[in-house]
Amino acid sequence: MRRREFLGGALALGACSPVVPSSKAQENPPSPEGLAVHARRSGRYFGAAIKSRQLREDTDFTAAIARECDMVVQEYELKRGTTELKPGQYDFSGADQIIAFAQKHRMRARGHALVWYAAQPKWLEPALKLARPGGREKLMTSYIDTAMRRYAGKITEWDVVNEALEPNQGRADGMRAQSMWMQALGEEYIDIAFHRARSVDPSATLFLTDYGIEHDSPRCDRRRTAMLKLLDRLKARDVPVDAVGIQGHLKPFREGFNQAIFARFLDDLRDYGLSLSITEFDVADRGGPPNPAKRDAEVASVAKAFLDVALDNPSMRSVLCWGLSDRYSWLSNFPDYKWPDGQLSRGLPLDGQMHRKPLWEAIAAAFDAAPPMGRRS
Ligand code: XIL
Repeated sequence: MRRREFLGGALALGACSPVVPSSKAQENPPSPEGLAVHARRSGRYFGAAIKSRQLREDTDFTAAIARECDMVVQEYELKRGTTELKPGQYDFSGADQIIAFAQKHRMRARGHALVWYAAQPKWLEPALKLARPGGREKLMTSYIDTAMRRYAGKITEWDVVNEALEPNQGRADGMRAQSMWMQALGEEYIDIAFHRARSVDPSATLFLTDYGIEHDSPRCDRRRTAMLKLLDRLKARDVPVDAVGIQGHLKPFREGFNQAIFARFLDDLRDYGLSLSITEFDVADRGGPPNPAKRDAEVASVAKAFLDVALDNPSMRSVLCWGLSDRYSWLSNFPDYKWPDGQLSRGLPLDGQMHRKPLWEAIAAAFDAAPPMGRRS
């Protein structure tokens, strides 16, 4: 089949036509088909990050997750700063509830995230600094062992190492210098983490995940280059990375998006024999048109441009949003993206009232247009 041709130029926001008129999502009775049904037609999955509290307290939201998703991931309840407040004393109660929900609804579950520089318990970094070399390694692998064993067979894919790159921190190789793992073990921490994860649960798909590799900007260019060079080294050392997760936190009102550049990057990743996923999709709407309907249309338009490329890649297996409804988007609280007047960010497929927005239509349309997994248009 012939490769779909993508726009060569940057997507000009404001000039692009909306995917659907902004009122349509509200006028029409919602189709009973959730996004997972659209995803499934091409052999893919659609999911969202959730919190156990939402499942306990918000029936509307829980029903929306059940309707739209066939995959879930914990927004924070498998991060070590939540589960291991004291060394070796674990509290997996939140993640357990999310996994029980997934099992009840026959959904897949991802695990996020085993090794990360952020959201770690306060005791860990000082302990790492005091430990001998073997002990340092163990401070990392103990969590891989505990979390992966607990959910073996229930969580089928793991973000093993999250956000290893940060070219702005001065290293020529673009690796994140200000990471306790990098400082304690050097880049080899990644090798150790993946080998350990492979041996603990050989059937799990092991992901390396990162952000800032989506846009057409010098920042993302540097980050993409650093990612490809890191993969060169990991592959040369036979590190068992199965997949790359592109977080997909778009900020279209600050940085441009170019389909050809993103398509080429995904092809480069695929050439390593890797599976791909969009693991944390949302669109920061700060800086967009003040009129919410106009903003929604532009958000939907850039999302469609992005997902059309992502889903044309035969190795792209799933799209997960970081949340499902604007009622709970992290973007509404994050200093860089939140609106100064306190209004909700509108970067997720459902609005604060659980109504489908143009962004929902855009995601559905991108799935509908996607060639079957493993093939390309
Ligand atoms: C965010 C959560 O959404 C917030 O609730 C939390 O306070 C901070 O972390 N990249 C990641 C996610 O890999 O874990 C982050 O999640 C968002 C950015």
